[in-house]
Amino acid sequence: MGRAVAARVGSLFRLGLLLGGLGSLASAEPRAPPDRIAIIGAGIGGTSSAYYLRKKFGNDVKIDVFEREEVGGRLATLKVQGHEYEVGGSVIHPLNLHMKRFVKELGLSTVPVSGGLMGVYNGKTLVFEESSWFIINMIKLVWRYGFQSLRMHMWVEDLLDKFMRVYRYQSHDYAFSSVEKLMHAIGGDDYVGLLNHTLRESLQRAGFSETFLNEMVAPIMRVNFGQSMDLNAFVGAVSLTAADSNLWAVEGGNKVVCSGLLQAANSNLIFGSVMSIEEKTRTKQTGNPTKMYEVTYKTGSETHSDFYDIVLVATPLNQRMSGITFLNFDSPIEEFQEPYQHLVTTLVKGELNATLFSSRSQDQFGLSVILVTDNSDMFINSLSIVSPVKEKERPALAGGGTHVWKTFSRDVLTKEQISKLFLSYDYAVRKTWLSYPHYQPPQKCPSIILHDRLYYLNGIEFAASCMEMSAIAGYNAALLAYHRWNGNADMIDQDGLYEKLKTEL
Ligand SMILES: *[C@@H]1O[C@H](CO)[C@@H](O)[C@H](O)[C@H]1NC(C)=O
Ligand SMILES: *[C@@H]1O[C@H](CO)[C@@H](O)[C@H](O)[C@H]1NC(C)=O
Repeated sequence: MGRAVAARVGSLFRLGLLLGGLGSLASAEPRAPPDRIAIIGAGIGGTSSAYYLRKKFGNDVKIDVFEREEVGGRLATLKVQGHEYEVGGSVIHPLNLHMKRFVKELGLSTVPVSGGLMGVYNGKTLVFEESSWFIINMIKLVWRYGFQSLRMHMWVEDLLDKFMRVYRYQSHDYAFSSVEKLMHAIGGDDYVGLLNHTLRESLQRAGFSETFLNEMVAPIMRVNFGQSMDLNAFVGAVSLTAADSNLWAVEGGNKVVCSGLLQAANSNLIFGSVMSIEEKTRTKQTGNPTKMYEVTYKTGSETHSDFYDIVLVATPLNQRMSGITFLNFDSPIEEFQEPYQHLVTTLVKGELNATLFSSRSQDQFGLSVILVTDNSDMFINSLSIVSPVKEKERPALAGGGTHVWKTFSRDVLTKEQISKLFLSYDYAVRKTWLSYPHYQPPQKCPSIILHDRLYYLNGIEFAASCMEMSAIAGYNAALLAYHRWNGNADMIDQDGLYEKLKTEL
C-alpha cells in the first residue's frame, strides 16, 4: 500500500507542477497588480499565502507580513538543554501535497517520525498494545475488534481520496469564497455534512462497535485534538490519518518552512502587533480616490501605520484572540465567538514509571506512545517519546531508561502529577497555548471574505486544524484575492469542478 500511495502522490504532484499557472491564461487580461498587500500572521497559513500571492501577482507588489511573536506560529519548538523539540504541529502526512511541495521547492530535508510502539491505557490497564511484528498487530486487532480497524482504514481512505481533489482544483487556479463551498466542491452535500455531525454519530451509523470507538478512536482524538468523539466527523477523519505510518517532519523544525516561504515570496517581515484595520479613502499617485485599508501596528512602544490595497488576516480572530479592532467599515466586520482550546504541552526528561501502566517489568515495557481512553480519569491526553528536530542529534539520545517525553494536558501539570508518571526526571518545561478550536458540530466555519479586499484564513480550522489545511487556506486566499482583484468570477465557487476537470484531462 505504501508504494501505491507514493506513486499516486508522485503523479498528482507532477500534475500540479504542470498545470500550476495555466489557469490564468484562460481568464481575461489581468488589471495592474495592487501596490501593497498586508498579511497578518507568519504561521503556515500566512506564509503560504505570501508565497502564492507573489506567484499570482508578480514581482511588483510589495508584500508585508506582520508577526507579533515568532515566525511559524503554532509550528513551534521548545529548546531544552541545547536540543529543540516540536511542541506544536509536528507530523506531516505523505499525502499533504502542499507541505511536500514547499519542502522540495525550498530545498529542505525531511526526517521520518516513527511513533514507536503504541499502547492504550484505560486508567487501570493497557487495553491495547502494539507489537513490533506487523502480523501480531493484525491478529491482536482482529481478535479484539473483528475487522473494525480495516473498515476504519477504508472509511478514512475514502474521505481522503475525495479530499485529494482539492489539489487538482487549486493547481487549475480555482478558488472558493467559503470553507463550506470548498468542502462541497470536494464531495457534495455528504462532504459538507461531515461538519454537521459528530464523529461518534458518523461512526456509529457506519456500524463500528462501542469497544472499538472507545479504545481506538477516542484516544486518537484526544491526542490530536484534545477532545473526544464529539468533534466533527471531518476533523475526526483528519485526526485518524495521523495514525498512519510514514509520517514525516522537516529537518530543523517544521517552522523553517514558514521562514523559507517568507524568503521565497520576497516579502517584508515586520515584527509588530497589529492593533487595528481601518477602511479609508486615499488618493493614489494616479489621482483616483481609492478605498484602502490602514493597518496600525505597534513595534515596541512605537505606533506606525501603513495603507494596503489587500489585507489577509492569518491569525485567529475568534474571541478577539488576535486583539485586532476593525474601524469605520461601511458594514461591521463579523465577530467570531467559537472558542479555541487551552492546551498545555509539557516536555519531561525522565524515566517513566512503567508499572503505572503495565505489570511487566520496567525494562520490558517498550512502549513509546501511550494514549488514554475517555474514562481513564487521567490528567493527561497522551504521553510519547520525542526526538530533537535535528536528525544528527538523535542517536546520542537513544538508549537507557531516560527519554524526553511529551505530554498534552488541559491543565498545567503539578509536581505531584509529574512524579506520579516518572520515577525521576531532570526537567519539565511547558508551553501553554490556545492550540486549536473546540469543535461543536453542527459547525459553521467563519467567513473567508470579511470585506471587499479583506480576507480571513483561519476559518478553515473549524473544518479541521492542521498544517496542510492552513496551507490550503493560504493558497485559496491568494487565488481568491487575485481573482476578485481581476474580476475573474468564473474562477470562484465553481461547482461540478470534479466532473469538469475530469473530462478536460
Ligand atoms: C449543516 O447545518 C447548518 C446549520 O447549522 C445548515 O444550515 C446546513 O444546511 C447543514 N448542511 C448540511 C450539508 O447538512
Ligand atoms: C510507580 O507506580 C506504581 C503504580 O502507581 C506505584 O505503586 C509505585 O510506587 C511507583 N513507583 C515509584 C518508585 O514511585
